Amino acid sequence: MAADESRAGTGREAREAAAERAAIAVRPEEFQHGSSSKREKVFELNGVEVLYSGVSAVKGIALDIHRNDVTALIGPSGCGKSTLLRCLNRMNDLIPGAEVRGELLYHGEDLYGPEVDPVQARKLIGMVFQKPNPFPKSIYDNVAFGPRILGRKEDLDATVERALRGAALWDEVKDRLDSNAFGLSGGQQQRLCIARCIAVEPDTILMDEPCSALDPISTGKIEDLMIELKEEFSIVIVTHNMQQAARVSDRTAFLMVELDADEDNRWGRLVEFDDTEKIFTNPSDQRTEDYVSGKVG
Ligand SMILES: Nc1ncnc2c1ncn2[C@@H]1O[C@H](COP(=O)(O)OP(=O)(O)O)[C@@H](O)[C@H]1O
Ligand SMILES: [Mg+2]
Repeated sequence: MAADESRAGTGREAREAAAERAAIAVRPEEFQHGSSSKREKVFELNGVEVLYSGVSAVKGIALDIHRNDVTALIGPSGCGKSTLLRCLNRMNDLIPGAEVRGELLYHGEDLYGPEVDPVQARKLIGMVFQKPNPFPKSIYDNVAFGPRILGRKEDLDATVERALRGAALWDEVKDRLDSNAFGLSGGQQQRLCIARCIAVEPDTILMDEPCSALDPISTGKIEDLMIELKEEFSIVIVTHNMQQAARVSDRTAFLMVELDADEDNRWGRLVEFDDTEKIFTNPSDQRTEDYVSGKVG
């Protein structure tokens, strides 16, 4: 297959999947009964390793991420949560010296295959960061930014409204869309960043500690929003807040730093990955138990 053909194929499939997902999203009752579509895999990781300048940061990662789930990555600082998250939309490509090894499939296709365009991948797999990072532009222009780059100029007002509604921000900003985004509170800015992300109709949203710079009320709003958004998107969230992982996620991956025998080298390992309820109430591994019960970490 020619590279361009294959790339078009990946994009088309993802778009078809998005259309199908939108059709399903209007029948939320399907999800609560664990329909087969719920178990569809968005990502499949097998033996994934990430190195920075030749030194392993995480190793041997094997896990599946399902559609319409919130998947949480938890573990002590430095265990590789952000590193692993960045693998999922090829953000590590932007870090000099970073290298990803192993198998990482996205909708069954090699995300790191030569035919995959990383820029296209990042449109389908959006990212929200710890610190809200709106552009120094109006609220409207922040949300319209992605669609404009993609040349989707028709119905831009409707796209912006839909994204702001999707991010539970519309009612708070509809009368001041032309105001600068920096005038919003931190929590509103973070929801604006989520609106900016969903305006380009991604498939998956990656969130790296999206609430750690926010107050408890704003945090609650973002958590409620995640539960709404998963009807339409798949979400992977890194959080150091275990209550948050327990509240919002369906599946939880617990990572830990491992040392080699002479303690010269350290890297992150996946200790346990399971239903969130199991991880928090009856984990299989003693190290998970110690971490979630607050004995270590
Ligand atoms: N850009 C980078 N360059 C070099 N090393 C990095 C970089 N980012 C992270 N690391 C290293 O990778 C390991 C995992 O870091 P990180 O993924 O940030 O962990 P976490 O998000 O769990 O705190 C750490 O040892 C960290 O120092
Ligand atoms: Mg991190």
